[in-house]
Amino acid sequence: MDLADIERALLASAPDDLKLLRSLNFAANAAPEKRRQAERDIAELNERTGGLERVRSWGVLQSNGSFPVQLTPLGKQICDGVKQYVNWLDHPLDLPRGVTRDMVAGKQILDVGCGVGCALLTFARHGAASTTGADLMPSFLALSRVFARREGIAAPRLACSTGASLPFADESFDFVFSRLALNYMPANAAVAEMARVARDGAEAVIILNLLPWEWRVLKDDVRGLRVKDTAFVMLKFLNGLIFHATGRQITLRYPGRMMSVHSPVVHTPWSLRRLLARHGFENLGDNAAEHPETPTFHARRRPR
Ligand SMILES: C[S@@+](CC[C@H](N)C(=O)[O-])C[C@H]1O[C@@H](n2cnc3c(N)ncnc32)[C@H](O)[C@@H]1O
Repeated sequence: MDLADIERALLASAPDDLKLLRSLNFAANAAPEKRRQAERDIAELNERTGGLERVRSWGVLQSNGSFPVQLTPLGKQICDGVKQYVNWLDHPLDLPRGVTRDMVAGKQILDVGCGVGCALLTFARHGAASTTGADLMPSFLALSRVFARREGIAAPRLACSTGASLPFADESFDFVFSRLALNYMPANAAVAEMARVARDGAEAVIILNLLPWEWRVLKDDVRGLRVKDTAFVMLKFLNGLIFHATGRQITLRYPGRMMSVHSPVVHTPWSLRRLLARHGFENLGDNAAEHPETPTFHARRRPR
């Protein structure tokens, strides 16, 4: 099955099959304790619905169904995206921390690095005038179309593009949002693009993991002897140092778990505020004191 077939299959899937895909994601990626629980969930769901055979026919599984679960490259993306949607279903109206209804209702909204579009679904539910998402991953964009249709929400306008070069006209959005994505992008170019496409006075909200979070992840990866993950976080730290010193980042091209272009970087509140101010944002604020691991940054587009 190709992506278009999987899109059709997901549209018609029963909720239990979506839960099965979420459990497959945990079984393939999670720490041992969560993995064992996921394996029990898979066995239980499969006994009840026979779903494993169905999702195997989509080509998401590499193994013959026994544990440990191995997902195909596309299967990793599908199971990860479905996990996000199934989690979202538990709280579909919760706005991301730091976003208020006023920022969203009646607004033309862009989500940079939108993933499978769950934040856009919430914004639509809160009365956004239009929702647009940009992301590098075609499979995530396909999933965001599926999830919008499943929810009976008009599909967002979607662009398969890097945040460093957005295919949108100058001054076209009232609210620019980015969650857990800016720290994977060439940050200078991405924030410059956010400023370009934001109308004068537009609000911007950026949520991202900072140093305390990355430090914890690094320690866990080292303890768990996860060599590839450790190397990736080390690249983030190295990029953070280079970024602080020079404003530049290293970008590597290799086929990773999800993408093939990588510019991971660790930011600090200071580096992010400097970046926002440099590219034309004002009224800067953040809640890094209360949420040091994953704060929300606010800014407003300075009139040109
Ligand atoms: C951790 S996910 C967050 C997704 C979504 N914002 C959310 O909160 O659920 C990071 C997302 O950033 C996207 N991404 C990474 N680098 C990117 C880039 N240079 N340009 C656009 N999107 C990128 C990935 O494809 C992925 O969907």
